[in-house]
Amino acid sequence: MSKELQKAREYEAEMEKKIPQRTRPAFHMTPATGWMNDPNGFSIYRGEYHLFYQYHPYDVHRGPMHWGHCKSKDLVKWERMPCALAPDTEYDGQGCFSGTALEYGGKHILLYTSVMEELSKGQPHRLLQNQSMAAGDGEEYEKLENNPVITGDMLPEGYSPLDFRDPKFWMEGGHFFAVVGCQLEKGDGDGQLALFSSPDAQCWKFEKILDQSGGKCGKMWECPDFFPLGNEQILIVSPQFMEEDGLEFVKGSNSVYFTGTFDKDRLEWHRGQPRRIDYGMDFYAPQTIGTEDGRRILIGWMQDAENYLTPEGMLWSGIMTIPRELSLKGGRLMQVPVRELENYRGRRVCFTDVALSGADGERRLDGIRGRSFDMTVEIMGENYNSFTLWLAADDIRKTALRYERKDGIFTIDRKLGGMPKDRVPKRSMHVGHREGKIKIRVLMDKFSAEVFVDDGLYAMSALIYTPLDADEVFFSCEGELAFSVEKYAMPE
Ligand code: FRU
Repeated sequence: MSKELQKAREYEAEMEKKIPQRTRPAFHMTPATGWMNDPNGFSIYRGEYHLFYQYHPYDVHRGPMHWGHCKSKDLVKWERMPCALAPDTEYDGQGCFSGTALEYGGKHILLYTSVMEELSKGQPHRLLQNQSMAAGDGEEYEKLENNPVITGDMLPEGYSPLDFRDPKFWMEGGHFFAVVGCQLEKGDGDGQLALFSSPDAQCWKFEKILDQSGGKCGKMWECPDFFPLGNEQILIVSPQFMEEDGLEFVKGSNSVYFTGTFDKDRLEWHRGQPRRIDYGMDFYAPQTIGTEDGRRILIGWMQDAENYLTPEGMLWSGIMTIPRELSLKGGRLMQVPVRELENYRGRRVCFTDVALSGADGERRLDGIRGRSFDMTVEIMGENYNSFTLWLAADDIRKTALRYERKDGIFTIDRKLGGMPKDRVPKRSMHVGHREGKIKIRVLMDKFSAEVFVDDGLYAMSALIYTPLDADEVFFSCEGELAFSVEKYAMPE
């Protein structure tokens, strides 16, 4: 084992002991210590779910990237595993960036972006991005001798060797395929997607540019994923530097999906327009797996790359979303928390047909409070303008989930949540007109809320670093309506 990997393992084991479990989310994955960003290598190996992640153990800010590691039997309870990869070779000394994993020939194989410093005399040093592999047994991983296995010079002319990253690979008909995000070097740097193939996962060949932004969907396409869902093929990418477009896309980084068709023989991909996956403030770089029982499951990094909210003094930074089951409805991607989560539900509190009027002010219900719950609220009525569910509240602080009936707009607003450095306190999404009825499921786990509207047709995730003693929940509205609540306590 390299000294870099050993040092990371010793450090994380030591630090983890200093972080009491009760100060962490209960059913969302967090790193042992230090900084975490993208999910990596989300895969099934020897019947267990493995999840790696972008990891800088030594600080709660970005640094030379390692691959952290954990595994799970049910996608909810994660067991931390020792750090899997450290930046410890010449070709990845500047970072082991994002990538994916597969089980193959009894081994767990990882394909990741290796970042190296180009040392050419008299030139400014550049950081080149190539793709490298490691193989292991679910705990110990060894990098291949012939790394990097996919290099920037395999791209056609005109592509930037500095923005060539995040391989997603899979097997199809005895062959391996990989899509890798890349960017044109000249002009305004269009985001593109390169397709490679290989007979053995080691010797790779460039096939074609499979897709491109064409100036319409941002620059560098980070973290691609490409998979079948029902009768369609889905492409997920996380483009940087997108333009704002109504409530659909925000300025900067977004995670988007395209639905389309993929001709596997001709390697041709046709698709429609992009749509945002999650309309909240904190969602990026998701990855998916196909499970043995035929489900497609997505997990994302629940943080905005440009809006750092980790409170002072915390010894870890970064939370993954709950893994979500995907399906399609009318061409839209639906997302619901994995069904395994229901095994963790505790005490149930339920109210039906509660009448609420604007004159009631703040309405509280017995047993409806806490910072860790799975709650569904259904609203009915045609005589109201807006309904607000308030979370993580006390006398001073609160976060609003608001539905505006006439405009068909749903908003999360944490500007009163006590996060002074927050640069993006509010996000809204169009949920359409629906005769006053709306169903909202909220998954709250101490420092975050994930909202699923209408059985997952619209999703919205946000960090809520309001101190944990702000645990009240209440309801208010403008006008008159009736609502029902079903709340399950979740483990603390
Ligand atoms: C996305 C990303 C990836 C890269 C990784 C580095 O958040 O920028 O493109 O591989 O993070 O940590």
